[in-house]
Amino acid sequence: MFTPVISGTGVFTPEEVITNDELVAAFNAYADRMNAANAEAIARGEMAPLEHSSSEFIFKASGIERRHVIDKSGVLDPAVMHPLLPQRADGDLSLMAEMAVDACGKALDQAGVAADQIDLVICAASNLERAYPAVAIEIQQAIGAGGFAFDMNVACSSATFGIQAAADMLRAGSVRKAIVVNPEICSAHLEWRDRDCHFIFGDVATATVIERKEDTSGGGFEILSTRCATQYSNNIRNNNGFLRRSRPDGMKDRRDMQFMQNGRKVFKEVLPLVSAHVLRHMAESGVGSDELRRIWLHQANKTMNDFIGKKVLGRVPEAGEQPNILQDYANTSSAGSIIAFAQNCQDLKAGDCGLICSFGAGYSVGSVLLRRL
Ligand code: COA
Repeated sequence: MFTPVISGTGVFTPEEVITNDELVAAFNAYADRMNAANAEAIARGEMAPLEHSSSEFIFKASGIERRHVIDKSGVLDPAVMHPLLPQRADGDLSLMAEMAVDACGKALDQAGVAADQIDLVICAASNLERAYPAVAIEIQQAIGAGGFAFDMNVACSSATFGIQAAADMLRAGSVRKAIVVNPEICSAHLEWRDRDCHFIFGDVATATVIERKEDTSGGGFEILSTRCATQYSNNIRNNNGFLRRSRPDGMKDRRDMQFMQNGRKVFKEVLPLVSAHVLRHMAESGVGSDELRRIWLHQANKTMNDFIGKKVLGRVPEAGEQPNILQDYANTSSAGSIIAFAQNCQDLKAGDCGLICSFGAGYSVGSVLLRRL
């Protein structure tokens, strides 16, 4: 058995930013247009008017202040209300692969690994640009990796489930150096016309290089253990699958073809699931909460993270112990906990333990226990 080590991470951050105020102004303009266009139906009581959104609500309910997106022009145009991402020619690099190549390059540089030494590429994300060929295989070719590649989707837990798959293959010896990459174009599956959720997501890509301990030149984070768990729930759902696409019933305007959630239920049900999962994982791995120097959590909601941090540590986390990045990125699905890790891990000392944890649709929960080398 070999010991897997995270030796590098990389984050691709799109240049364009939408602040809460910009988002709310566009949404409110859209709501006013809709209400004016449907004034008679509203007056007859056949339709409820759309209510305004507010920056204060968004920050208070989620902790989000802004988000990065690939295209803000479409999202902020009240006549469009979605990103404008023209379909690329089959011979051109796909958008997910383009974001992934940037993140992979940064992660490989940090690890000091040449791309041709990689023999496993997992593209793990909550949405995939096409059914096949796998986006991961396109990334494998674009960065010049060898070996094999495949896509996987476990929604917001895709990164940690991908890390477990790669770490297990490394342990067993079937691969030598792996990269797990998470290109998340959340702006394209968010319904920007729905006040309840229009503020939730942003776009980003993260990448994580995993190697055998003996191949690294020091530094890095040993993967002590991983745990994945799932429990079926319809509370976070997107019906946009290939069978639905063939229906001639105006799929573009069907609400269920984008992200849908019962946010309150998710909040209530996922918190105990995640806290119990992490505490069990730590107990089984013999790591006490007094040994955890940092927790890098999925980035969906600040209140949720504060609650989980407190449960896991048995006290209110001190400043910096449970870093949040969602104020700047919003929820970036599977990439969130990896951004938090990438931006807040270098100050840990040799021997310090930390935990990456993701959770989301499925429901799914994944945790990765690490020790700084
Ligand atoms: N602006 C102003 N008011 C809004 C609003 C907006 N954008 N969106 C909703 N409201 C209103 C609601 O209509 C509701 O009004 P009411 O009390 O008169 O009915 C009120 O604000 C509270 O709405 P609610 O949806 O209950 O808010 P919440 O406090 O539960 O926060 C979420 C909403 C989505 C931020 C929160 O439930 C959450 O984070 N859930 C977990 C999400 C999650 O982790 N998802 C995983 C995705 S991967």
